[in-house]
Amino acid sequence: MRVHIYKDGARIGKAAASLFAAEIIKNPGCVLGMATGSTPLPTYESLVELYNQGVIDFSRVRTFNLDEYVGISRSHEQSYYRFMFDNLFSKINIKPENVKVPNPASPNLHDDCVSYDTSIDASGGIDLQILGIGNNGHIAFNEPGCVFSFGTHIVDLTESTIEANKRFFDSIDDVPRKAITMGIGSIMKAREIIMIATGRVKAEAVKAMINGKVDPQCPASVLQLHPAVTVFLDEEAASLL
Ligand code: F6R
Repeated sequence: MRVHIYKDGARIGKAAASLFAAEIIKNPGCVLGMATGSTPLPTYESLVELYNQGVIDFSRVRTFNLDEYVGISRSHEQSYYRFMFDNLFSKINIKPENVKVPNPASPNLHDDCVSYDTSIDASGGIDLQILGIGNNGHIAFNEPGCVFSFGTHIVDLTESTIEANKRFFDSIDDVPRKAITMGIGSIMKAREIIMIATGRVKAEAVKAMINGKVDPQCPASVLQLHPAVTVFLDEEAASLL
């Protein structure tokens, strides 16, 4: 793992966007793995800026998102599908047909999980994946105690994740209890990974991810085994290292 510590999230956003931009310039038809949540927002803003400056072109880029809630529609304002269009896809020239987000509205969720992994493989695999980390060490919705070899699957969200995500909903009762998520097995296939963590609330999880043993109790610790991970932290997230 290469670990970089920056003063704030805005600087991390620029640094992470530079890695994405380099990938897109090197390989205009690259496959990017996308995340939602607060952490990648400065990165997405910087990517839009680079697109507006004519530095990068998304017309051949394909994307796969990590996860999606089960039980809310794609048009729901908290769906991850909607999040991606609101914060990135509607602001760049990516083709909607090149964008994939798990779709839990389908009648057969299990088959959808399998076909999501199949379509990632068929695309040639993810070249560059961005990840955030949960306060409990989760990546995507792979919660503590997960099985490292799993591909895309359905999960029950933990109380800690429901609690952390309630800020986006009117009340905690509105937070979905299930999600569809790429598994650790799917994530580890990405050729290169960017992990970003900001804020004091992430410091314990970051310490376990970097200095702890590789343990499903801290799903992000598996990244110690991946050959090409760049970690961007702000000073608060790095404060326990
Ligand atoms: C989102 C995702 C989650 C978040 C994590 C951190 O697609 O996969 O694992 O990355 O929950 O969320 P934020 O960035 O909101 O702190």
